[in-house]
Amino acid sequence: MHVACIMDGNGRWAQRRQLPRTAGHTAGEENLAEVVRAAVRRDVDWLTVFGFSTENWIRPRREVRHILGLHRRLFGRVAELNELGVRVQWIGRPFDDPSARTPVFVQRAIEKAIADTRHNEKMTLTVAFDYGSRAEIVEAGRRALRSARPVTVDTLTSGMYQPDMPPVDVMVRTSGEHRVSNFLLWQANGAPTYYTDRAWPDFDANELDTAIALARTA
Ligand code: FPP
Repeated sequence: MHVACIMDGNGRWAQRRQLPRTAGHTAGEENLAEVVRAAVRRDVDWLTVFGFSTENWIRPRREVRHILGLHRRLFGRVAELNELGVRVQWIGRPFDDPSARTPVFVQRAIEKAIADTRHNEKMTLTVAFDYGSRAEIVEAGRRALRSARPVTVDTLTSGMYQPDMPPVDVMVRTSGEHRVSNFLLWQANGAPTYYTDRAWPDFDANELDTAIALARTA
C-alpha cells in the first residue's frame, strides 16, 4: 500500500490559533512523525510526503528558513525511524542539477538519514524536497534521450527520481483544497484522492484509515 500526502494547511491551522505560520509548520512536522507511526502499524509499506516544492522558495525568507530547519529535524529522527523499521528516501531536483536549490546542510541531513536507515524494511518514507513532478517527468525524458533509449512509459518510469517507487494507491490532500498539485503526477495516475477539510497538523490515524479504505475500494 503506497500512500502519498500533500500536507496542506499548516499556515491556516496556526492562524486560527493566533499563532505565527511557523508554529503551524512545527506542528506539521510533529504530526508527520505521528502519521509515520500510524502508517507503520497499518500495512502501509510506502509513504511519500510533499515536504517542500520547487515553488515554495518564493515564500518569505524567515518561513523558508524555519521549514528547512524542520527538515533537518525530520531527517534527524534516525533513532526513532530505526526503531520503527523505516527506510528514508528523498525525491527532488538532483543536487548537481543547475536549477537545484537544496542548501548543503539539508543535503547532508538527507544523505545521512538515507545512509543510516538503509537496512530498514518495514516501510519506506520518501520525502519530496525541492520537488516538482513536471520537472521530474522532463528529467526522465532527458535521461531516456541521453541513453539513446526510445521514450516509452517504461523508459520514463525508470528515469524517475526513485525508479523503484511503486505506483501510488491513494493520494491524500488536507485542508479542503480540491485540486491536483505538482506532486507525483506520473506515479499517482489512476489513484483516488482522499480530500479532507482537516489541516495537516490535525490529520490523524482515523483519517489515514479512511484514506486506506478509499484505496481498497477504488
Ligand atoms: C503546507 O502548509 C505545507 C508546506 C508548505 C510544506 C511544509 C510541510 C511541513 C513543514 C510539515 C511537514 C514537515 C516536514 C519537515 C516534511 P501551508 O503553509 O501551505 O498552509 P496554508 O495553505 O494554510 O498556508
